[in-house]
Amino acid sequence: MPRHFLRDDDLTPDELVTVLDLADELKADRFARRPLAGPRGVALIFDKPTLRTQLSFSVGVSELGGQPITVDGRLAGIGERESVADVTRVISRQVAAIVWRTHGQDRIELMAGLSPVPVVNALTDSFHPCQILADLQTIREHKKQLAGLTFAYLGDAANNMANSYLLGGATAGLHVRVAGPPGYLPDPAVVSAAERTAAATGGSVLVTDDPHAALDGADVVATDTWVSMGQEDEKDDRQAPFVPYALDAAALDRADANAIVMHCLPAYRGSEIAAEVIDGPRSVVWDEAENRLHAQKALLAFLLEGH
Ligand code: NVA
Repeated sequence: MPRHFLRDDDLTPDELVTVLDLADELKADRFARRPLAGPRGVALIFDKPTLRTQLSFSVGVSELGGQPITVDGRLAGIGERESVADVTRVISRQVAAIVWRTHGQDRIELMAGLSPVPVVNALTDSFHPCQILADLQTIREHKKQLAGLTFAYLGDAANNMANSYLLGGATAGLHVRVAGPPGYLPDPAVVSAAERTAAATGGSVLVTDDPHAALDGADVVATDTWVSMGQEDEKDDRQAPFVPYALDAAALDRADANAIVMHCLPAYRGSEIAAEVIDGPRSVVWDEAENRLHAQKALLAFLLEGH
């Protein structure tokens, strides 16, 4: 059975460290591993918009010796024109791995259940685990540790980034604090899973509607758009409730004096994050975006080389 990466806790705490170490190795020497030499193909399927993910997986697959093949999922009509199952059967006979950005987590779970090659979640409505790998690499670069740090996420706490920070942060042994308005808090099943993981790693989980409870003394502060892809029709409703959770200079002042600021991008300056914060000296968002490349290459090497 191939290894898949569908959500953050598909890697054990030890495996996560292995992948992050490999990501650092590949950042220092971009051609150190060639698991896709041939070149073997990797399908990159997008049912939603993309910039960083298409770019970083395309460059990354090439640097691993492989051939990226981008598939426009909307053109293919996956689940409409052709079933997820049939698409999986067709694609998986031709490539070494499948990377998919799609809507429901059930779709990628269905694909993984049928695929003889690794399936990687490149964002669903529920999780964005590749982003969290890059974020953890970035935090470790700047803070020289992961376990024991306090990580605060503010904003839409019901979205894919919040869920992935809970699971991935707990796996890394972080003290994860997630704050959002009532009605926009994480799925209790995800919180429970993160709590179980944190109990084993020495981390902890706090879910709150009090932004200060999340921010006070935090080592890392992160936010994300209030309107995720697919929620465009809710744009007007997704402003006022989130204003108290905006990451502005006053909010950042509550964090540790050496706190770093993260955002997965795209960012909306003046909404979830102030320009002076994302463009300020504590922001590490460009390192974070670059590390998508290194972290995802490490993940693919890990899945393909059968660690
Ligand atoms: N929560 C955002 C993340 C974008 C990388 C979205 O799903 O649109």
